[in-house]
Amino acid sequence: MSVAKNIIRADVRALAAYHVPDASGFVKLDAMENPYLLPPELQHKLGEKLGALALNRYPVPSYAALKAAIRDTMGVPAGFDVVLGNGSDELISIVSVACAQPGAKVLAPLPGFVMYAMSAQFAGLEFVGVPLQADLSLDLDAMLAAVRAHRPAITYLAYPNNPTGNLYDLDAMLAIIREVGDSGIVVVDEAYQPFAGDSFMPRLPQHPNVVVMRTVSKLGLAGIRLGYMSASAELLAEFDKVRPPYNVNVLTEATAEFMLAHSDVLDAQAESIRAERAKVAAALTALAAVDVFPSAANFILLRVNQPGLTGAQVFERLLQKKVLVKNVGKMHALLENCLRVTVSTPEENAAFLAALQSSLNP
Ligand SMILES: Cc1ncc(COP(=O)(O)O)c(C=O)c1O
Repeated sequence: MSVAKNIIRADVRALAAYHVPDASGFVKLDAMENPYLLPPELQHKLGEKLGALALNRYPVPSYAALKAAIRDTMGVPAGFDVVLGNGSDELISIVSVACAQPGAKVLAPLPGFVMYAMSAQFAGLEFVGVPLQADLSLDLDAMLAAVRAHRPAITYLAYPNNPTGNLYDLDAMLAIIREVGDSGIVVVDEAYQPFAGDSFMPRLPQHPNVVVMRTVSKLGLAGIRLGYMSASAELLAEFDKVRPPYNVNVLTEATAEFMLAHSDVLDAQAESIRAERAKVAAALTALAAVDVFPSAANFILLRVNQPGLTGAQVFERLLQKKVLVKNVGKMHALLENCLRVTVSTPEENAAFLAALQSSLNP
């Protein structure tokens, strides 16, 4: 027996590592990144600021200035604070660990963001997935029944959802939040909020069981790894105990403070991505061989709908044309023949559309 076999949990050994494909040389449209760099003037100013940081010191773990900047610019309601994470991936992990009492369960619609189930597993929580309807909307009756049957400690609702891109119906969200009541929390994951047009952040004061989770990744700062979540002071105090004390490094902290002071730049980039989304969606809708799902995010889900042609084949043909999208066709039965594509610059979107067109009709 090897040492790994002796000590590593069987369920961990059985997992495949999270695969991130090498995208060098590709038009990279697989990870919902913002395609824009900072304007050169801001790059220089930021470089000077980062160069002068005290890298020899640990961060000050209260992160008071960064938290204040997030509260001020991100619409956090008066009297509410935030807990910071190394990306919202870490926040999902923190919430999972904090709630991992024996027998506790996690509920989420499927298909959804894979880290909800993975973090649950790592923390020893049972994951319960409830399929969406065929049109990828919430199956409210099934969700309410699952809440009653399982009384989950954590229910995740991504608003909008990944990989489907849609905003769930607001009344259905509220009905689930009501049904969960004080037996659990509902994490409203707003990773794609800059593109969404609605948010639960202003509704936080009405819902003591809701946690609003966000990330700066899709806004244009995926590289710095920063997420934040807001909820009642009582919940945040407990989550904060699980957070590693220096989880946000000083480079991330300083970059985020700098960028929040220039949030107009990121907002303008998000606006142009939203405008591009409408154009890409219209161009896709005009193609007879694909079905397009409505998107409130910075990506679009499409289904290849041409007899004799699978989504996997189109994915491979796009790869040959140096365009990398995400093949989500095997993720869930509801996503058969589906591809997910990030909305990017006008040039990259045009390259994708041309490559797709010739992949459908080679
Ligand atoms: C719904 C959702 N939540 C959270 C995340 C993780 O974001 P972060 O980059 O902050 O870890 C993602 C990333 O794709 C996501 O799609």
